[in-house]
Amino acid sequence: MTELNAIVESAQSAFAQAATPADLENAKAQYLGKAGKITELMKGMAALSVDEKKARGAAINVAKQAIEAALTARRQALADAELDAQLKAEALDVTLPGRQRGQGGLHPVSLTLERIEAIFGSMGFDVAQGPEIESDWFNFTALNTPEDHPARSMHDTFYVEGGSETAPNLLRTHTSPMQIRYAVQHVKQHRASVGATDGLYAGDMPEIRVIAPGRTYRVDSDATHSPMFHQCEGLWVGENVSFKDLKFVFTDFCRTFFESDDLVLRFRPSFFPFTEPSAEIDIQFQSGPLAGRWLEVAGSGQVHPNVIRNMGLDPEKFIGFAFGMGPDRLTMLRYGVNDLRLFFDGDVRFLSQFN
Ligand code: PHE
Repeated sequence: MTELNAIVESAQSAFAQAATPADLENAKAQYLGKAGKITELMKGMAALSVDEKKARGAAINVAKQAIEAALTARRQALADAELDAQLKAEALDVTLPGRQRGQGGLHPVSLTLERIEAIFGSMGFDVAQGPEIESDWFNFTALNTPEDHPARSMHDTFYVEGGSETAPNLLRTHTSPMQIRYAVQHVKQHRASVGATDGLYAGDMPEIRVIAPGRTYRVDSDATHSPMFHQCEGLWVGENVSFKDLKFVFTDFCRTFFESDDLVLRFRPSFFPFTEPSAEIDIQFQSGPLAGRWLEVAGSGQVHPNVIRNMGLDPEKFIGFAFGMGPDRLTMLRYGVNDLRLFFDGDVRFLSQFN
């Protein structure tokens, strides 16, 4: 029987040395295959007597079972090892940060508009929105802009379908039409509440104090001009509102907006059909990267009597000022951006820096 034991032991060690399932199947063939050692022993029993066959057969069977058991165990061990290796290769590092959806954030110009609204809101200004497709009346005529004013020409203004030859529709070239729209509404409501009759209104009335931010359009395109840009209108009309108030309000606004008291303001004489006198508002920082240069930030002026009339008010009683500023330019100054087009290219790498 030592012969059988030796065969079992050599099978066990051959199986143990098999490093892969294929090696193992080859090793198995040497013992249990058609020409395997166990099979040969079985064949060799043919010449034995019945009793000898019984004893020999039983012993060979024991050895065969031992070899099969070793084979099964080794198969299982190799399968386990393969599974382990596979799991290791496919391992997930659960400590890695997850892949997130982008957080998103406000556009830098939207951030500026929010700031403007908050600052003027704190000074008692209402915030009004108006249509971007305007009539010729609100955009020009009601604002005392003569028929032959160059701003009406095809070079500056995008005209759109839907109007008439004499009253065309257009993309508003500024937010100033909101002066008329808001004031007319304000006066109408007040008149109704006090039961005032027709004609220019000359009674008591709460002051008009409003800003109107929004998109505006002109046929213009370079590093500092975009066919679509933003403006924010301001209007303050009452019985006793002067340039002094405009200077105070605008200085306060700029200092708050730029978070710097180190900033001065100057009015530079200018012309707008709807204000008289008119002035450009320039600011100058006394320190920091922009120090020493006069920077134009808004057009302004005392509201023209004809415009006061078009609001439904008596210019003998009511007076006020208006301004129109460029939130895009304010955004460029605040963040030190020198090409306006970057704001409207939609490049997330640029835009995500502001949040
Ligand atoms: N609407 C003028 C512009 O677009 C700016 C302005 C507004 C000037 C209000 C005076 C008063 O240039």
